[in-house]
Amino acid sequence: MKHTVYWIEGDGIGPEIWSVARPVIDAAMRMADPGHEIEWIELLAGEKAVKKTGSPLPAETIDALGSASIAIKGPLGTPVGGGMRSLNVALRQRFDLYACIRPVTWYQGISAPVKHPEHVNMVIFRENTEDVYAGIEYEAGSAEAEKLAGFLRTEFGADIREHSAIGIKPISEFCSKRLVRKAIRYAVEHELPSVTLVHKGNIMKFTEGGFRKWGYEVAHDEFGQLTIPEKEATPENSKGKIIIKDRIADAMFQEALLHPEQYSVLALPNLNGDYISDALAAQVGGLGMAPGVNLSDTLAIFEATHGTAPTAAGKDIANPGSLLLSGALMLEHMGLPKASEMIRQAILSTIADKIVTPDLAANIPGARAVSCSAYGKALLANMGRL
Ligand code: NAI
Repeated sequence: MKHTVYWIEGDGIGPEIWSVARPVIDAAMRMADPGHEIEWIELLAGEKAVKKTGSPLPAETIDALGSASIAIKGPLGTPVGGGMRSLNVALRQRFDLYACIRPVTWYQGISAPVKHPEHVNMVIFRENTEDVYAGIEYEAGSAEAEKLAGFLRTEFGADIREHSAIGIKPISEFCSKRLVRKAIRYAVEHELPSVTLVHKGNIMKFTEGGFRKWGYEVAHDEFGQLTIPEKEATPENSKGKIIIKDRIADAMFQEALLHPEQYSVLALPNLNGDYISDALAAQVGGLGMAPGVNLSDTLAIFEATHGTAPTAAGKDIANPGSLLLSGALMLEHMGLPKASEMIRQAILSTIADKIVTPDLAANIPGARAVSCSAYGKALLANMGRL
C-alpha cells in the first residue's frame, strides 16, 4: 500500500536532518510493516522556494497542501524582507491547523534537570489560531493603537496609559470547543486517564475562563458517558472514565514539576500552550527530542519543533531526533504503530549505546558524540538488530 506524504525540507539544518530521517522512516516501514511504502512528494517552502520560484510559499505548495492529508516539514526560517511574519504561522492560518499537538515523554539515558523525568508522560493540545499570541496587536504610538485606546476609553471607560501598545485576545467558543473535543477524543482513543484544561480564568474571566467553561461543556455534552469532572469523581463512579480536571496556568507549571504523574492530556489556549510546550520539553531533556504536529480536520503537518539552528547548519552536527520522532508520530497517525515504535526503540537503543549527537553528548556521562550522518547510520544498524 502506498501512502502519499508531502515533505518540506526546511532551512538551516533542514537538509541534514532530512538526510537521516527519510531513510530511517523508510527502513522502519520496510521492516515493521512490509507491504506499506511512502510516496514522498517534495513541496517547496522557505529559502529553497525563494531560490527556485522567488516566493517563500509558492502557489504550488499551497495548492498541494490544500488537497493533502499528510505532510511533514523541517524548520523554516523567518524570511528576511519577505513581508510574511512567519511561514509557520502562515501555514497554520492558511490551512486552519487549529490543534498543535506535542507528546512529551522522557527517553531513558537522556540527561534531564529533574529527579524523575520518567514521571512526565503528557500530550499537549495547544490551540493554534487565536488568543493574544495569534497576532492582533498594535505598536505603541501607531494610529491603530491610538484609535483603539481612544475608543476603549470613551466607550467603555477603560483605563489605558498614554503610549501603550495594545494586543487583542479573542478566545471563541467554537475554537475552544473544537480543540478540547480533539483532546478528549485522543484521550478516549488512547485510553488515557485524564484531560486537564489549563487556563488563567481567575484573572481573565471571559477569555481564559470561557475556555475552561466551554471545555467542561464539551466533556459533558459530547462525552458525558466517558468523562467525569474531577470535583464529582469518586473511586466508584470514575472507574473507566476520563477525569476532566482544570488548573490555573501558573499552578500547572508547579504541578508539572512536583506531580507530573498526575497529568496526561493537557488542553490549552495558545499562549499557555506555547509556554508549557517548551517547559515540559526542557523537563525531559530538551527541544532536540520533541516531536509535534499541527492538525486541521483534514490535514496533518508533522514538524521538527526546533528552529533552523543557523550556527549548526552545514556542519553535520544537528540532532535529527525531533524530526525522526515527528516521523514516528506520523506513522502512528497513518495506522502503522509497529513502524512508529521501531523508530522510538532504535533511538532508545542508540542512546543506550551512548551514541548521540553533540548537543546531547555533553550531558551524558561516557557518551560518544557523533555526526548527524553517523548517528543516522547507528540508528539503521540498531534497527537491523531489533
Ligand atoms: P533554534 O531552535 O533554531 O535554535 C535554538 C538553539 O538550539 C541553538 O543553539 C541551536 O543550535 C540549537 N538547536 C536547535 N535545534 C537543534 C538540533 N536539531 N540539533 C542541535 N541543536 C539544535 O531557534 P532560534 O535560533 O530561535 O531560531 C532560528 C530560526 O528558526 C529563526 O528564523 C526562527 O524563526 C526559526 N524557527 C522555526 C521554527 C519552525 O520552523 N517550527 C521553530 C522555531 C524557530
